Amino acid sequence: MKTFDVQLGKRSYPIYIGENLLSQPQYFLDHIAGENVFIVSNEKVAPLYLDKVLDSCKKLQCDYKILPDGEQFKNIATMEAVYSSLLEKHCDRNTTLIALGGGVIGDITGFAAATYQRGVHFIQVPTTLLAQVDSSVGGKTGVNHALGKNMIGCFYQPRCVIADLSTLGTLDDHELCAGIAEIIKYGLIKDIELFIWLEKNIQKLIDRDPESLAYAVHRSCKNKAQIVAEDELEQSGKRALLNYGHTFGHAIETGTGYGNWLHGEAVACGMLMAARLSIKQGWLTEQDYSRIETLIKAANLPTQVPKNMNVEEFLQLMSVDKKVRDGKLYLVLLNKIGEANLTANFNDNLLEETLLEYCDK
Ligand code: NAD
Ligand code: GLY
Repeated sequence: MKTFDVQLGKRSYPIYIGENLLSQPQYFLDHIAGENVFIVSNEKVAPLYLDKVLDSCKKLQCDYKILPDGEQFKNIATMEAVYSSLLEKHCDRNTTLIALGGGVIGDITGFAAATYQRGVHFIQVPTTLLAQVDSSVGGKTGVNHALGKNMIGCFYQPRCVIADLSTLGTLDDHELCAGIAEIIKYGLIKDIELFIWLEKNIQKLIDRDPESLAYAVHRSCKNKAQIVAEDELEQSGKRALLNYGHTFGHAIETGTGYGNWLHGEAVACGMLMAARLSIKQGWLTEQDYSRIETLIKAANLPTQVPKNMNVEEFLQLMSVDKKVRDGKLYLVLLNKIGEANLTANFNDNLLEETLLEYCDK
């Protein structure tokens, strides 16, 4: 088992990474202040892992809410249902919420914890690769709006993250690959060694080699924790680098209807589009682009945009991004593999050209 802290002063918290952590009560009990826990999960994950968490928390009063599964339920209506359950179960301000599931459950539960009775404690128990390497760390919580992805939410840090690698055994292959997209992202924005490691070990990750998964989750969390510690509230531009590929990707997710493309798949395609624009700007080399494309393809991730999306739709959806400031769109683009920058100084015509290249295929 590996552990290290996300360093945020008084709000610092540990990330535990290892096998069979769900069955070990201390990881939960050390971070639960009161006598009550309320677990939020979904209809796919709960039958697999809820009993283990209930057993680990059996000394406490436990309630739970099982949500329908899918990105299309990451919305305000679901929040309302969670608040109603919390109130029906008389959960008070000493209740600790536990998010048991992938990024969707983590984002919903974190937002519920941040807002219920002006804030209660919560624990992230990520059960997808994507959630273990990215969404459970750093305190971004919230839900989608029909007009834009993750448009409603806030920053609110968990008390700890319990990343039980054993849970990855029941993930579908395409969900696993979606998580690999976010690992590739760390390689691209700041960690060339990780990128090179991925080039050599991608098949081992796809084959769920335990050592490779443990390495990738640990290294990704370290990268994320470092960025979050430097720029928790995404103010300096540093944390925004974590959104590499996401402005294009979010447009795909919203444009195709939430739940039709996995978040990681949309990000993978978006990372390639952002790399193409980076070449057009004269910042990235063709050779680097080709390495990125090869790795994304090797991870069985998409490199083509959805057929029904056109340039106008992309531009419209990209204009509803949280990286729009004073009406100007900022994008994360690459200088080279391992180095990214947040910039509004890209050429609009080159962006359109890039979109046209992808939308034409
Ligand atoms: P998800 O939560 O929808 O999970 C993917 C699928 O896997 C779901 O069907 C889920 O029920 C199932 N599942 C989860 N764990 C399983 C397991 N162990 N075995 C079998 N099936 C399992 O999707 P995701 O990819 O985990 O997360 C994507 C979401 O995370 C998006 O909404 C995205 O916006 C968000 N996100 C948030 C942040 C952040 O910083 N908060 C970062 C990245 C992504
Ligand atoms: N996933 C982007 C962030 O946490 O900032």
